Amino acid sequence: MTVLELQQVTKTFGSGRTKVEALKETNFRANKKELIAIIGPSGSGKSTFLTIVGGLLSPTSGEVILNGKTISGMVERERSQVRLGEIGFVLQASNLVPFLTVDKQMKLLDQVKKGNMDNKELKQLYDDLGIEELRKKYPADLSGGERQRVAIAKALYTNPSIILADEPTASLDSDRAYEVMELLKHETKSKETTTIVVTHDIRLTEYCDKVYKMTDGILTLEGNGDE
Ligand SMILES: Nc1ncnc2c1ncn2[C@@H]1O[C@H](COP(=O)(O)OP(=O)(O)O)[C@@H](O)[C@H]1O
Ligand SMILES: [Mg+2]
Repeated sequence: MTVLELQQVTKTFGSGRTKVEALKETNFRANKKELIAIIGPSGSGKSTFLTIVGGLLSPTSGEVILNGKTISGMVERERSQVRLGEIGFVLQASNLVPFLTVDKQMKLLDQVKKGNMDNKELKQLYDDLGIEELRKKYPADLSGGERQRVAIAKALYTNPSIILADEPTASLDSDRAYEVMELLKHETKSKETTTIVVTHDIRLTEYCDKVYKMTDGILTLEGNGDE
C-alpha cells in the first residue's frame, strides 16, 4: 500500500547566478512497512528531499501525496495538522525543548495529540534507546548522542504513520547506531509504518528494504536490501 508519493517534484533555491536546483524532477513512492535509506554526499539534496516529504518545505513544482492527501497544495495551517498527526521527525537540528526534562518533552506531546504511546510502551522505548536513566534530565545535561536518542524517542512517541530521520545516528558510536537502526526497523515492521532515513553511513543500509542514492539533486534506486 502506497503511503507516500512524489510526482514530478522539483526544488530550486534562489535565482539568477545564485540559483541552485537542489532537487531535480523526482518521482518517488514509499509503501507501508518499508524502511528506506537515502545515501549521498553532503550538499546533494538529501535534507531538501526529506523536508519536502515532511511538508516543512514547499516544492517549487510537483505534488507530494501523503496517505492520499496532497500536502503540497495545502495552506500551512492544514499542513501543520498533518505533520502533527502523521509524521515523526528526527531532524539534524535538535527538536528538544531546553527547559523541559526528557519525560516532560513527551508529556508535552500528550497536550497536542491523542493516541500516543502508553506508559508501558514509553518505558520499553526508553529501554530500547538506553535513555531510561535520563528521564529527569534536561537537554543541556545530555551528551550529543543522548540528545539524539531522546529526539528519536520523541519522534516515535506519537505513533506516526511515517518517520523521517535526517542522519539520526550521526553522533552515535557504531554499536549504538546499529541498535537505533534495529529499533527503527522493528517499529516500521510491527507498527506498519514507513521510515525514511538519510545517512552517510553505508553500513546502516543493510537494515533497509530499499536504498536510494542522491547525487546532485537526482534520486536513483540503488538496490532492494539484501538482494
Ligand atoms: N534554504 C536554502 N537556501 C539556499 N540554498 C539551499 C537551501 N537549502 C539547501 N540549499 C542548497 O541546496 C543543495 C542541497 O542541500 P541539502 O538538501 O541540504 O543537501 P544534503 O542534505 O544532501 O547535504 C545545496 O547546494 C545547498 O547549498
Ligand atoms: Mg543534510
